[in-house]
Amino acid sequence: MPTWNSDQYLKFARERTQPALDLAARIELDAPALVADLGCGPGNSTAVLAQRWPSAALTGIDSSPAMLAAARRDFPGHTWTEHDLTTWTPDQPYHVVFTNAALQWVPDHAALLPRLFGHVAPGGAFAMQVPANAQATPHRLMRELAASTAWRRHFNQPAREWRVESASFYYDTLSSQAAQIELWETHYIHVLPDPAAIVDWYRGTGLRPWLDLLPDDTTRERFLADYLQLITDAFPCQADGRVLFPFHRLFLVAYRPLRSGL
Ligand SMILES: C[S@@+](CC[C@H](N)C(=O)[O-])C[C@H]1O[C@@H](n2cnc3c(N)ncnc32)[C@H](O)[C@@H]1O
Repeated sequence: MPTWNSDQYLKFARERTQPALDLAARIELDAPALVADLGCGPGNSTAVLAQRWPSAALTGIDSSPAMLAAARRDFPGHTWTEHDLTTWTPDQPYHVVFTNAALQWVPDHAALLPRLFGHVAPGGAFAMQVPANAQATPHRLMRELAASTAWRRHFNQPAREWRVESASFYYDTLSSQAAQIELWETHYIHVLPDPAAIVDWYRGTGLRPWLDLLPDDTTRERFLADYLQLITDAFPCQADGRVLFPFHRLFLVAYRPLRSGL
């Protein structure tokens, strides 16, 4: 599990929260009473759910005390619970089990998704968004840099990278239990001020497993400087100096039947 820093993560709050807005908007439920946000982080996605369903009781669940501390500070009106999603077993089912940009960190989706879907109340929805860009240039460059002659001695063990499956996999995993499943992908193109912003973006998420394997902050800063050079070469600036940063994401909404037997 990588270390988390809510300030670093929220530097790009607008871009990171847009997929939560898009996912929440597609859930066809008017007034769910109990809503859970799994991997709620600093509460930005939970705040989206509060806007969408103002009368719902909201619970944010996350394993990072640092993220939960930020969530409690900024949104004291909701319930915040520290728990690992691999073992999360709530006392009651939820009308919406929502998870934005979190399950890529949790292993074994073949077992995880049916279990999480089992915590959805009859007629309710499981809604998930995960990044589908593990093969994108910034990730390829992280791997190549870590494997380079200059850096490989620091990476004796593999970094624990994101793990995301295909739309087909998720459909087959839930279709026997769901009344209806909707899947879609969105290719966001974020406009960032410069190539350093791409490094800053990943410093809060995808680079964490690599940085955590380095021995100290000085070495981490050297790794980031080398990574910035590669990113600068790979993402040419636009005419106004900004960079376009593509980000591919996969969405799923699965509805639980009102009665068993579909
Ligand atoms: C990228 S943040 C997403 C935050 C927020 N949901 C959003 O939409 O921006 C991922 C969050 O998932 C949490 N997380 C990762 N693995 C987890 C696990 N096994 N159990 C609980 N939370 C986990 C992390 O602590 C982190 O706060």
